[in-house]
Amino acid sequence: MELSALDRSRMPVHVAIVMDGNGRWAQRRGLPRTDGHAAGEEALLDTVWGALDAGVRWLTVYAFSTENWKRPVDEVRFLMNFNDRLLVGRRDELHAKNVKVQFLGRRDWRVPRRVLRRIEETERLTADNTAMTFSMAFNYGGRAELVDAVREIVREGVPADKVDEKTIRRHLYDPSMPDPELVIRTSAEYRISNFLLWELAYSELVFTDVLWPDFRRGDLYSAIGEFQRRDRRFGGLTDADPAG
Ligand code: IPE
Ligand code: IPE
Ligand code: MG
Repeated sequence: MELSALDRSRMPVHVAIVMDGNGRWAQRRGLPRTDGHAAGEEALLDTVWGALDAGVRWLTVYAFSTENWKRPVDEVRFLMNFNDRLLVGRRDELHAKNVKVQFLGRRDWRVPRRVLRRIEETERLTADNTAMTFSMAFNYGGRAELVDAVREIVREGVPADKVDEKTIRRHLYDPSMPDPELVIRTSAEYRISNFLLWELAYSELVFTDVLWPDFRRGDLYSAIGEFQRRDRRFGGLTDADPAG
């Protein structure tokens, strides 16, 4: 789908994507799974620039889950190095286009120190950028995010009856991040797999058969087109935002 076919007055502010199907993409070509991850880089960059052109203000992608540590050590190592290289290779371009890059996830001992350092450098470099916030969910789990929020709330000694939805939101990894209106998952998998559990309560979900390495901005625009055809009610009767 072309950008010109979309209703520019109804663009989602925040789009989140589960980038799935890299392994199958490679296997279908008789290649090692890791080649599929490598091929995902072009898909990611085209999607970032496509989102930027469309005026999407927040883009969040699922790059590595808290469950992905279960994979073979070689694949995990590849993914750590891959994300490291991606940051180094692309951050100047992202910075030049005024994109703020940030990471959502646990910065624990399992993430190599070199990668953590790169994450911090990239966040610092792009901190004041304003065109779009591009979040990489990395060593991210929706349940882990809620556990971390609860730990923080308990540590602060907040009395039980003072805990409400706002308290929880304030303790998420990025309290300023609006909920995604649209969540896309590629590769014909119809589940959430621990992505943004709190944030997607009222997100429109769009599933596509396209494997992540084949995904391009046109696929993003098609998903936004589908989103624009949906009727969002938030439990009420009209298409109105619950916060608004
Ligand atoms: C998504 O592709 C990338 C990550 C989970 C890191 P997969 O590696 O899950 O690919 P499939 O689902 O096995 O095809
Ligand atoms: C979700 O995909 C995580 C990422 C895309 C990073 P998975 O491929 O890990 O999810 P499952 O195992 O199919 O649920
Ligand atoms: Mg998968």
